[in-house]
Amino acid sequence: MDNYAVEMLGITKIFNGVKANDAIDFRLRPGSIHGLLGENGAGKTTLMNILYGLYRQEEGIIKINGKQENIDSPTKAISLGIGMVHQHFMLARPLTVVENVMLGHKSRRGILLDTKETAEELKDLSDHYHMGIDPYTKIYQLSVGEQQRVEILTAIYMGAEILILDEPTAVLTPQETEEFFHTLREMRKDGKSIVLITHKLEEIAALVDEVTVLRDGKMIGTRRAEGITKEELTRMMVGRDVMFNFPPLAEMNLGVKLSIRDLTAVNDRGVPSLNGFSLDIHGGEIVGLAGVDGNGQNELCEVLTGLRKETGGSIFLDGEDVSGKTPRFYIDKKVSYIPEDRHTTGLAMNWNLKKNMILKAIGSKRFMKGGLMNEKLITQNWDTARDEYQIKAIDGDEKARALSGGNQQKLILARELNADPDVLIANQPTRGLDIGASEYVRQKLIESRNGGAAVLVVSADLEEIMQVSDRIAVIYGGRLMGILPRGADVYEIGSLMMGKRQEELAHE
Ligand SMILES: Nc1ncnc2c1ncn2[C@@H]1O[C@H](COP(=O)(O)OP(=O)(O)OP(=O)(O)O)[C@@H](O)[C@H]1O
Ligand SMILES: [Mg+2]
Repeated sequence: MDNYAVEMLGITKIFNGVKANDAIDFRLRPGSIHGLLGENGAGKTTLMNILYGLYRQEEGIIKINGKQENIDSPTKAISLGIGMVHQHFMLARPLTVVENVMLGHKSRRGILLDTKETAEELKDLSDHYHMGIDPYTKIYQLSVGEQQRVEILTAIYMGAEILILDEPTAVLTPQETEEFFHTLREMRKDGKSIVLITHKLEEIAALVDEVTVLRDGKMIGTRRAEGITKEELTRMMVGRDVMFNFPPLAEMNLGVKLSIRDLTAVNDRGVPSLNGFSLDIHGGEIVGLAGVDGNGQNELCEVLTGLRKETGGSIFLDGEDVSGKTPRFYIDKKVSYIPEDRHTTGLAMNWNLKKNMILKAIGSKRFMKGGLMNEKLITQNWDTARDEYQIKAIDGDEKARALSGGNQQKLILARELNADPDVLIANQPTRGLDIGASEYVRQKLIESRNGGAAVLVVSADLEEIMQVSDRIAVIYGGRLMGILPRGADVYEIGSLMMGKRQEELAHE
């Protein structure tokens, strides 16, 4: 007889009359890595939130190591050796790593924790899994990748033998992803059982033992991952084939729209992060900005949208010096922005979807009639966005909080892209989106370009950069390393990303 670390049998979960999970059977083998796949809104996070005791299922039972359990809270889940790292981190930023671990968690031994002792234990665990975490660092000083390792470390420290990771690699650079895979393989060796929710099909082949696919809340099947192809997985997820093709190059004849000159800025910690960055973007052109995360990309986007004050240099929009203007000014100039961190900067989580769709138009006349907000226009606006972007939601009156991660992102994309921008700053536009939605968004970026907009696409995903860019700019240490044409060699882009300047390469 097979034994399992987790068996979820006949799980049904209903939100407002909609089945987010519909009689799902899910089985996790001990000492294995299990991929959980499906389009945005398929029910992956919901299923795992049930396992972690965050939601109660309407139907179905859960067995842990063969024994039926009633998991009615995360505390119960943790006591059963289940740990979960969410799509959006839940760390307290002003506190240190060790303080975060101690916060809200009593010791496994039920007594109050000793800081020094805890820090030492964390350090040992971190060393064992090659995580390189110093327990005394404050969270805000850590990169996103490091913060994620802290979340995992915390879960393991709390005694997790079953570890649920919700889209962990969405925020990692390719290098960090490699290290992260190494850590997961070590954990598997130690007998831990891991559920990995992901949209990246390459990860299935590289890492997992088995894969389960969900579609529209239903379980489509569980397969051994060995030998399974991207095409097969896509078909299971989407129910049809998805085409990937390269759009034609833009005809660049619209002149410089956005000109960035010797821009300097500091990051949240006061450290210089843009160090004299210059770049011109023409109307009707997509410039892809490649770079390892944390080289000034986010600060650049924020300065270009008025969210961060530059410390030097200038920005010109159609020849006009617009340096130091407010976010409102940029919005009025039709500069659209897709922020990297959609959760905290892009949406008002407790507002409903319709209202989020017009967040930036509040105070403008677009949705007004006779001095009042026009409900009919607002509803129409929402209906169009929902249909075009296939946002999985009930009726637009629900809060943004109720949407799945990917559907929250679709909402922001719909709002920003449908504003008919003159300039579009898109930071990691397809992060967290399923393959179908990613294709659609790339198509929309190209449509904006074809409509004459100057588009800057920042992405850690080189494949995406190669696919949509007319020119490829590379940033390193807050400076422009070089500009390459579409179709440039990946290795050349790679060496620029590692800090070699284009002139140096030319002389080699
Ligand atoms: N708290 C909630 N209240 C109401 N509806 C919810 C809630 N959480 C999830 N849903 C709905 O359940 C469905 C499944 O959502 P879930 O978050 O499980 O999707 P997912 O597979 O994780 O998608 P993604 O890849 O976008 O993260 C969606 O239609 C979502 O709107
Ligand atoms: Mg999810």
